[in-house]
Amino acid sequence: MLISEIIRKKRDGGTLSDDEIATLVAGITSGEAADEQVGAFGMAVYFQGMEADEAAALTLAMRDSGDVLTWDLPGPVVDKHSTGGVGDNVSLMLAPIVAACGGYVPMISGRGLGHTGGTLDKMESIPGYSVTPDNDTFERVVREVGCAIIGQTGTIAPADKRFYGIRDVTATVESIPLITASILSKKLAAGLDALVMDVKVGNGAFMPTYEASEELARSIARVSTAAGVPCNALLTGMNQPLASAAGNAVEVRNAVEFLTNVHRDVRLEWVTLALAAEMLTISEITENRDLGFSVARAALEDGRAAEVFGKMVAALGGPGDFIASYDSHLPKAKLIRDVRAPSEGHVCEVDTRAIGLAVVELGGGRKRSSDEIDPAVGITGLVDLGQAVAEGTALCTLHAQTEDQLDVAEAQVRAAYRLGDPPELSEPVLDIIS
Ligand code: URA
Repeated sequence: MLISEIIRKKRDGGTLSDDEIATLVAGITSGEAADEQVGAFGMAVYFQGMEADEAAALTLAMRDSGDVLTWDLPGPVVDKHSTGGVGDNVSLMLAPIVAACGGYVPMISGRGLGHTGGTLDKMESIPGYSVTPDNDTFERVVREVGCAIIGQTGTIAPADKRFYGIRDVTATVESIPLITASILSKKLAAGLDALVMDVKVGNGAFMPTYEASEELARSIARVSTAAGVPCNALLTGMNQPLASAAGNAVEVRNAVEFLTNVHRDVRLEWVTLALAAEMLTISEITENRDLGFSVARAALEDGRAAEVFGKMVAALGGPGDFIASYDSHLPKAKLIRDVRAPSEGHVCEVDTRAIGLAVVELGGGRKRSSDEIDPAVGITGLVDLGQAVAEGTALCTLHAQTEDQLDVAEAQVRAAYRLGDPPELSEPVLDIIS
């Protein structure tokens, strides 16, 4: 079967058979399909779409392009995946909360992409923490601690690794069947019993509209469930950063303070516990969401989740006393500066994407995939939508290494906040798609 004929069929709106999809994915994995063919296939799918069965076949073929992990553990293996946002450090609290409640969470995470932060970059701001342990260490940490947050290895879904790299530079990322197959191929290869998706909605989200986010959520839930991994999706708001911090070390600090009951951002707590309740319920640890919510809250408030996080950090090479001494272990930027409100009013709009780009400008994200990031820089104390501020009130605090970085980021953040009449506020969890 010629790869060019498969591309032609999709280009002309045909429905590909499982065999055709398997041939194409084998070609992507082996290199037999040239970069231009992979790019052309992505563009054909971008314009012609895929039937649900085709998206499922693509997902399974990409899952099977590398190792598929299997687990033999005394509890369910469950994970969460987020489509990405700003100030979204949920994973750092969620994995240990669910582990403390009896779930096993092998969380294979990604790096920051565009304006959105990446869990791996955040974890790497912890000195010594390795996001690339060997398979034995990964399996041992999941078994003994209950969770491990690591990066995608070369052996998990290699077809996605290549295809995603080509989509990224051929303007074919924003295709629902391709995103579905990309995300799920990696998650299904992790050997999960159940999955919960956090699909972001709003001006800091990856999908441009509520409808597109909802369609993506339905597509992922449908394909995952059809592949034997039950999946529910929460649609959660990203019309402002989720945590009051955005960056890497600053988000880790925020997460430890959340876990140790020092400080908890209200919307972040809501989304984290809602996702925990969903994970506990879908994996049948609790009978329903209400119970899931209270079991998760108990594990958080009595310190068990913090203990699990500390053990995970130590087991993956970080400091043994991280929970007690996080502040002295996390890097700090040389300079800080408050960004002050130019007038009084209520925060009526936050351009969340612009806040994420300000973090990139500070050096906390990448402009090119080869860029090194600075873990110490970022933003803290971000005020919430709807909050009343007086002229001169701090809208946030910037953490940077140079005055130039501060100047650029200050202008970006100031422009991102609009002050005026009180806005209508929506709840952080907008819908649950089962
Ligand atoms: N994240 C992924 O892993 N894949 C996509 O296609 C988009 C976001």
